[in-house]
Amino acid sequence: MTKKMIIFDTTLRDGEQSPGCSMNNIEKIEMAKQLERLRVNVIEAGFAAASPGDFASVKEVAETIKECSVASLARALKSDIDRSWEAIKNAKAPRIHTFIATSDIHMKYKLKMTPDQVKENAIAMVGYAKKYCSDIEFSAEDATRSDPYFLAELFEEVIKAGATTLNIPDTVGYTTPDEFYNFIMTIKEHTPSIHKAIISVHCHNDLGLAVANSLAAAKAGATQFECTINGIGERAGNAALEELVMIMDTRKDVYQLASDIRTEEIVRSSMLLTRITGVKVQPNKAIVGKNAFAHESGIHQHGMLNNKKTYEIMTPESVGLKANTMVLGKHSGKHAFEDKVKQLGYTLDKDDLGKAFAKFKDIADKKKEVYDRDIDAIISKESVQVPKTYTLTRFVINSGNTITSTASVTMKKGGKNIEKVSVGDGPIDAAFNAIQKIVGKKLKLEDYQLQSVTEGGDALGDALVKLSNGVGQIHVGRGLSTDVVEASIQAFINAVNKMIDQETD
Ligand code: KIV
Ligand code: ZN
Repeated sequence: MTKKMIIFDTTLRDGEQSPGCSMNNIEKIEMAKQLERLRVNVIEAGFAAASPGDFASVKEVAETIKECSVASLARALKSDIDRSWEAIKNAKAPRIHTFIATSDIHMKYKLKMTPDQVKENAIAMVGYAKKYCSDIEFSAEDATRSDPYFLAELFEEVIKAGATTLNIPDTVGYTTPDEFYNFIMTIKEHTPSIHKAIISVHCHNDLGLAVANSLAAAKAGATQFECTINGIGERAGNAALEELVMIMDTRKDVYQLASDIRTEEIVRSSMLLTRITGVKVQPNKAIVGKNAFAHESGIHQHGMLNNKKTYEIMTPESVGLKANTMVLGKHSGKHAFEDKVKQLGYTLDKDDLGKAFAKFKDIADKKKEVYDRDIDAIISKESVQVPKTYTLTRFVINSGNTITSTASVTMKKGGKNIEKVSVGDGPIDAAFNAIQKIVGKKLKLEDYQLQSVTEGGDALGDALVKLSNGVGQIHVGRGLSTDVVEASIQAFINAVNKMIDQETD
């Protein structure tokens, strides 16, 4: 019989903790809405007690999302649990996720607590959280390096205290499929009330085994997978949602597992995350890599022409990779645009639709044909906008291989135009230097990427700029234009505006 797995997505919490993957409030909401479209069952929106910013985004996700449970992580501390509840109490289906470490090494060196103290604390905090919320998940951090008999005793007690889900994390990505299977079987055998709770697993990918370990756990009785889009997460990341889901889909015959996920939303979820964070997936990454469905060699192409099943175990359409169809042109009106936006699966309010339409018109004027991917790019950029402290008025660049590049950039702030001129190592550097002079801040360019959204000479340039201001926070800006210098300048200004928005929060 096929077993339904609960998909617990932690892209916004464990994923967001990974270097280069931080997101601002608006970006988290955008990502959460996409996770809802993807139909994950639980969204872990963040760690509400970590900072006022985290609290605000968990709260907003909880108040926006209607189709999934929304969880907040909390250490086994009253103050963390209070804060979590405060953030998620208005969710349609709130979940408090509390955790404490249970391995000897963590208890001794990190917590400086005895096993009995850890057990007492876990029981007390699960009981405390239960006063707020019926849906309580308890995680035993570093479970796979913990004594399974101790864990069984602890789990039995936290179930009695009200835990409805027991999570067994492989926090350091150390276990192996057979070992994990046996470990879970031992815990089950020694936890008499285990049938009253959902067994969840949360696997890290340090040895590249996160997905395999999760599947072994399902065989041992786990019914919840914790995972992230593109496998982002601490260090080598978490189990990749898209891999787990497509394995369940493609190899039902072996695993007899299913999920509620709309697999056709996988590619869009992956691309949105890449656009927001600027962290690309490797081209050969399973399911969502650029080459995952590309057939390069002559022999493969020949086979594919005769019968796609020769080299294709799942269709590109099943994960949402569509032929990049031409959709609209410069004569298309707002209704046609709105229809297309709906067809692509977006629900925009009037304001966002108006902004996206204005950007579409601007692009359609310069570009003969506008494709689905262009519309995706326009919407994902427009929907993650912050207040525009600075806007671009004009720029003039003078550049060549025998002269020093010079840029004159004029930007508007509070109704007033400010113009600065700067030189640089090439046109983009010169323009970035001029912007820095206008902003009057010492900014460090951490990353700059430029890629085309579609093919062809008039393709949209999609520029990404990562800026830091020396206090450890990185701000990602994006710019879209058929002119790559303009796209780059817009991306830089977008990152500056995000930085200012964060600073004034
Ligand atoms: O990896 C881990 O152990 C975690 C827990 C907090 C669930 O992320
Ligand atoms: Zn983790």
